[in-house]
Amino acid sequence: MISSIQRYINEVNNENALDQNGIEEIRIKYLGKKGILNELFEQFKTIPNSEKKETGVYLNELKTAVQNKLLILKESIGSDELNLASDKDLTQPVDFNLNGARHPLSIVRNQIVQIFQGIGYSISEGPEIEDDWHNFSALNFPQDHPARDMQDTFFIEKNPDIALRTHTSSVQVRIMEKTPPPIRTISPGRVFRNEAISARAHCIFHQVEGLYIDKNVSFAELKQTLLYFAREMFGEHTQIRLRPSYFPFTEPSAEMDISCNICGGSGCNICKHTGWVEILGCGMVDPNVLENCGIDSKQYSGFAFGMGIERITMLKYQIKDLRLFFENDIRFLQQFETFI
Ligand code: PHE
Repeated sequence: MISSIQRYINEVNNENALDQNGIEEIRIKYLGKKGILNELFEQFKTIPNSEKKETGVYLNELKTAVQNKLLILKESIGSDELNLASDKDLTQPVDFNLNGARHPLSIVRNQIVQIFQGIGYSISEGPEIEDDWHNFSALNFPQDHPARDMQDTFFIEKNPDIALRTHTSSVQVRIMEKTPPPIRTISPGRVFRNEAISARAHCIFHQVEGLYIDKNVSFAELKQTLLYFAREMFGEHTQIRLRPSYFPFTEPSAEMDISCNICGGSGCNICKHTGWVEILGCGMVDPNVLENCGIDSKQYSGFAFGMGIERITMLKYQIKDLRLFFENDIRFLQQFETFI
């Protein structure tokens, strides 16, 4: 029996196959139900016990030889298939992975910044953790003004003089304190208010506020600057209207609406059928604020405005729920400008 096993071992080593079918044939020939190995194991049962040990060694050798042969053949055919694949044109440019998209709030912030940079505004930034002076007092908020209330502002418990800024007007105070006029600057940044999170409000949002201080600055210039901004942002047919309003730091103060960019002013559910949507607050800087910051209010006047980036973005892209901006769901984010 041993010599016939040795013959099979030789035979296995000389086996060859051209493709997967050939390999399968060899497998069945040796390892199949009625294959050579099963046949030999049947015979093995019948030989005298004294021969079993040695014969067993040869049988195992045959089995290993078959398994190795099958492995080798599989590998060589696999690499043939690879060679076939290399017939493809490897000089073709590859498909790039799209690996990111700019956040819609960043896109719109950059647009706002670019529009104002184009008419000579610089960009200023300041701390998100502020003191009472820069966030409120310098801006002419009376001590008992409701906006200082715990409802709206995140204070630091141990020191109520410190708070998370509620607007980026605080940055403008810092600029006025250290820069002699003329001043023309915008301050984009993150602001915080103690609001319940809903589709229309969040405790964190983003603003761009603007400030212009020089001799003889007039309300007409404010209006024209904002009209220019609205048309650059929402299209050349955009109309604006100013409604009287109140802010402690501006006098007179106004809120600005633009003609609804969805229906063009004829009325839809975005503008609640009024044809107008509010986008920002503005006004002439109160002389008290100028004086608080060391600027002579008899020589200088100025205007200021402030807008929420979320609100502008929602209008621009018709996004109905503010919470989408903070969830970072990739399916949402990829709908805007993508880059590689
Ligand atoms: N600071 C105001 C706010 O956060 C916006 C504003 C800025 C209004 C400048 C008037 C002038 O709501």
